[in-house]
Amino acid sequence: MDTKQLKKMTLEQAVARIEDGMVLGIGTGSTIELLVPEIGKLVNDKGYKLTGVCTSKRTETQAKSLNIPVMHVNDVTHIDLAIDGADEIDPQLNLIKGGGAALFREKVIDEMAEQFVVLADETKLVDYLGQTFKLPVEVDCFNWRLVLQHIDAHVEGTVELRMTDGEPLVTDNGNYILDVHLTEKTDPYALHEFLIHLTGVLETGYFLDMATEAIVGTQQGVKVLKH
Ligand code: A5P
Repeated sequence: MDTKQLKKMTLEQAVARIEDGMVLGIGTGSTIELLVPEIGKLVNDKGYKLTGVCTSKRTETQAKSLNIPVMHVNDVTHIDLAIDGADEIDPQLNLIKGGGAALFREKVIDEMAEQFVVLADETKLVDYLGQTFKLPVEVDCFNWRLVLQHIDAHVEGTVELRMTDGEPLVTDNGNYILDVHLTEKTDPYALHEFLIHLTGVLETGYFLDMATEAIVGTQQGVKVLKH
C-alpha cells in the first residue's frame, strides 16, 4: 500500500470519534484533505450539527465548499476535538508539524481542543523528533535573516528559508518559515524554549505533550497509539 492508502485507512476511526454537536478543530495537509469530505457527509447526509474551526485558509475553503459550518477561533470558547496530521510522531506522541506551513494556527487550535487526535501513515513514526524531518519555525519577515543566523549558531545542523516558486513561502499569517535540519538528536523542550524567545519567532513546529491519541495506517492495519 502507498502512503495515500495508509492515510485513508485512518479515516474510519477518525470519523467514529466525531459526535453530533461537536466543535471540531480541522487540521491541514493531505491526510486532513481526505478527512474533510467525510466530515461533510456527517453534516450533509447524517444531519450532524458540527462547527468547524479551521487551521488554514486552505482547509477553510475546502470545508466551506462542502457546506460544513465554520467559525473563527476567536468566536468559539471551546473545541471538543481537533483532528490533524503530523510530519513526525515520537513514542511519547510528541510531534513535528508545519510541513504544510500551517503550524501556528494548528497549534492554537490543537492545543485548545479537549482531545487532539493525530492521523498519519506509518512513515511518520520516528524514534526521536528531527530524525527524518526538518523543524519548521514561523518567523516575521522583517528580521528573518537575523533569526536564521541566531538559530544556525545555536543548533547542530543547518537552517534554510522555505521557498516556493523561487520566492519565500508566505504563511496565512503573512510570515516566513525557517526549516531547521537537525543533524544530531536534540532535546525538543530545550530547543523550543530557545527558539520561542528569539525576537521574530512566532511559533515552532514542536507540538509537545499535546496529542491525546494517534491513529496510524500501517501495512499491518490501523494502529491506535495513546499517550
Ligand atoms: C501542516 O502545516 C502540517 O502540520 C501537516 O499537518 C503535516 O505536514 C501533515 O501533512 P500530511 O497529512 O500531508 O502528511
